[in-house]
Amino acid sequence: MKTFRIKTSYMKSINTNITIRPVKISDVESLQKNIYSRDSLDQTREIINKSLEKTRLGTAFHLVAEVDGIVVGNIKVEFKQHVLERHRGELFDVVVNPRYQKKGIARLLFNKCKKLCLENGILILETSVRGRTPGETVYRRLGFIQYGRLPRGFKEPWDDEKIFDQIFFYMDLDKD
Ligand SMILES: CC(C)(COP(=O)(O)OP(=O)(O)OC[C@H]1O[C@@H](n2cnc3c(N)ncnc32)[C@H](O)[C@@H]1OP(=O)(O)O)[C@@H](O)C(=O)NCCC(=O)NCCS
Repeated sequence: MKTFRIKTSYMKSINTNITIRPVKISDVESLQKNIYSRDSLDQTREIINKSLEKTRLGTAFHLVAEVDGIVVGNIKVEFKQHVLERHRGELFDVVVNPRYQKKGIARLLFNKCKKLCLENGILILETSVRGRTPGETVYRRLGFIQYGRLPRGFKEPWDDEKIFDQIFFYMDLDKD
């Protein structure tokens, strides 16, 4: 299991170690509490079980970032299954718990993700995000390139039912 030291420039404590590893079923409580807080424990368990099954089939992977035994970050990639698209993967559920944001955890998750994608023959990584949110900026900082925008493409079903443009991003993983 690989341990990373996170960006000390951001950190109050410089002794915090982060582990980036595949999700486990025993993460369910920590994952629900810190990442999938809009979902129930049962829904979170189902998310993990689906990820484990897809990983077993070789069609996806799901990583978490762990700090002191707590899951604080999450990232998933699903490999496209169409015969013409098997070199492409889609990024989902990139989330870092607010208390641990801006410490380089998303970048660590993403770096591991890139490596695993290439090992699995994935050359293009795609994702989309709500426009004019920090997520849009973060993807640009991580090196994603915008290739489209769907006006009003996202509508949140909760709270004020906010509407956002959907921004489409890609990254060529075998360049640079
Ligand atoms: C987006 C998110 C995952 C970023 O996680 P994070 O661990 O804070 O990100 P990092 O610290 O690794 O930062 C990665 C880069 O983005 C920048 N960044 C991070 N948060 C930012 C913010 N709120 N606004 C602008 N830039 C930001 C960092 O400066 C860094 O760039 P740099 O290395 O060039 O300086 C986190 O803010 C989050 O969970 N947001 C809510 C969910 C979400 O919007 N997910 C993305 C769409 S699904």
